[in-house]
Amino acid sequence: MTTEQAEVEAQKKAAADRALELVRPGTVVGLGSGSTARYFITGLGDRVRAGLKVQAVATSMESRRLAEKGRIPITERNDQALDLAVDGADEIDPSVNCLKGRGGALLREKIVAVASRRFVLIADESKLVGRLGRGPVPIEVLPFFWEATSRAIESLGGRPQLRMASGRPFTTDNGNLILDTTFGAVDAQLGVAIHAIPGVLEHGLFFRIARAAIVGSATGLRILGELA
Ligand code: A5P
Repeated sequence: MTTEQAEVEAQKKAAADRALELVRPGTVVGLGSGSTARYFITGLGDRVRAGLKVQAVATSMESRRLAEKGRIPITERNDQALDLAVDGADEIDPSVNCLKGRGGALLREKIVAVASRRFVLIADESKLVGRLGRGPVPIEVLPFFWEATSRAIESLGGRPQLRMASGRPFTTDNGNLILDTTFGAVDAQLGVAIHAIPGVLEHGLFFRIARAAIVGSATGLRILGELA
């Protein structure tokens, strides 16, 4: 690992450690996916093994496996509201809107984020942008007739690219495909228009969902939004 990579990992871990302080005993916590969320799940496992009583909902099979390894009790029942969900992001703007889904877990991530009283992002400072859309927007689509869905996305001004993995179409935990779509700068209205296309299950634009972002930086933690 280079010194730069080590610095990025330290920033992710510092953000995750701060988010762990938000976990209240006896609550249900949403576990995000990706390399930053991994630090949070590992740290939560340490606390659970030290006696903290919580339950968790995992947003991907990988996060679930990690949680089970840490002996965090997993629930899939929805009879208790989620107190807190903590997740990484690919891009975060100054108003704490974010773009997610490069790991392919965006559908479950958005369900859990919206179902939580507090949705908090954790990230290193490379994720901060002035405006969302630096990279493509991941869009989860049903495999059935996906080319038609892709053409409809193109008609919104996007350039969709089917995500591949090891020479085959990438498949989400839900059995769907991902179209990584370049639009340039994006806004909440575009999110609504993408959603209206039949065959689209979810997109990675999270407007007005996160309450705060904890961002590791070379000079310490930065908090965007309100943590309380
Ligand atoms: C997973 O689908 C994503 O939304 C991740 O939360 C996002 O890509 C951030 O991942 P890293 O923490 O690995 O950068």
